[in-house]
Amino acid sequence: MRWEYISQNFIEDQIRKPNLFLDETKLDINYVPEELPHRDKELIALSQLFLILLTQPNLISRRVLITGIIGVGKTVTVKYFGRMILEAAEKREIKIRYLHINCRKERTGYKVLIKIMKSFENNFPNRGLSHQDIIDVLCDMLNRNNLHLVLVLDELNYLIGKNDDLIYTLTRINDESFNTAQRLSLIGIVRNISCLNNLDESTLSTLQRNIISFEKYDKKQIRDILRSRAKVSLKPRVFNSAILEMIAEIVQKKGDMRKSLELLWSSTKIAEAKELKAITPECVRLANNQIIPSNSLGFLKSIKTHKLVLIASILNILKKPDTFNTDISTIQDEYSHFCENIGSPPRSYSQIMNYLHELQNYGIISIKINSRNIKGRKSQISINDYSIKELETSLISILKGRGIYI
Ligand SMILES: Nc1ncnc2c1ncn2[C@@H]1O[C@H](COP(=O)(O)OP(=O)(O)O)[C@@H](O)[C@H]1O
Ligand SMILES: [Mg+2]
Repeated sequence: MRWEYISQNFIEDQIRKPNLFLDETKLDINYVPEELPHRDKELIALSQLFLILLTQPNLISRRVLITGIIGVGKTVTVKYFGRMILEAAEKREIKIRYLHINCRKERTGYKVLIKIMKSFENNFPNRGLSHQDIIDVLCDMLNRNNLHLVLVLDELNYLIGKNDDLIYTLTRINDESFNTAQRLSLIGIVRNISCLNNLDESTLSTLQRNIISFEKYDKKQIRDILRSRAKVSLKPRVFNSAILEMIAEIVQKKGDMRKSLELLWSSTKIAEAKELKAITPECVRLANNQIIPSNSLGFLKSIKTHKLVLIASILNILKKPDTFNTDISTIQDEYSHFCENIGSPPRSYSQIMNYLHELQNYGIISIKINSRNIKGRKSQISINDYSIKELETSLISILKGRGIYI
């Protein structure tokens, strides 16, 4: 049978669309970038702790605990450190093995052990050996090969409280098995140190000796990191400082870099789908709305008409391309104009201010005092959590239901 040409080939359509990425994989959660802005202090601390592995190999082993909330770069920083230590070891012909295991994926101590063994020997049996058998094989192998293993147990909290003695055993390997060579160092990563309370006291104290806690990123740091990641993953004219600032503003409360990069990625995807040459504020709003899908607009129906008209006037200003925020006097002008059109007298200035604060409490707008210039301190009003287009469509239909056409 011969195919007739189909009238529309969606694959061809997709290929013709602009590609705004230089390299999409560089925004992937598992990618380890070449630079890690604002994590120097933590990398230096790790380097100082592990220096002895290079200066006096296998003399002692290290146990370090990393803590910090989600998205503060714990995983990526430790992986980056892993590269540094491997590079330094190789130069000096010291045999170090770095192994990063996510305990959330493995779930049990036994599976973690198997994973460790498989990294050395691909066809290591999945079952049949006891905990202690495997530990013995591991120790023997490290000794025979004169290796030091730097074992990272990421999301370690998934192993704790499961009656699982892996951590206990691992922290004692060196004490029992060898008098001389110390061949296993541990880096445990947890979000919250309190999850360790279930451990027995001596394990806890060995682990707690060296703790590096990762602080939440602030807005400026998020912006710097975003820039560093955007430079290698997006084409140059696709993003600008204002867009990165907008994303940083949205995520700063949680300080979660994972969400920041997700927002950057989805904003770019949305820009591509709209066949734009660059990310616009509306792309970021849409992306943000996708990530937090709970922002349904049903609640608008319960808002009084004049407040809705005020929202409509803010939308009218912010919907202009590349408009990130506006100020109160511009809103007041636009609002008066709207009121004239619908034949209803505008509310007073103080009433408008009250409305704006209410809208902020609803989470529709955000009001920020621009403190850059003390003399001319101005409130900046922006909308980050909703798509302007979607807000506008809902507003028009609700107002229409009330006999008001804007
Ligand atoms: N300082 C940084 N520089 C560049 N990228 C970073 C930085 N901190 C975090 N990231 C990126 O942010 C995302 C979340 O970081 P991750 O290490 O997974 O956080 P955590 O393990 O603390 O939850 C990852 O994609 C990571 O590459
Ligand atoms: Mg992590």
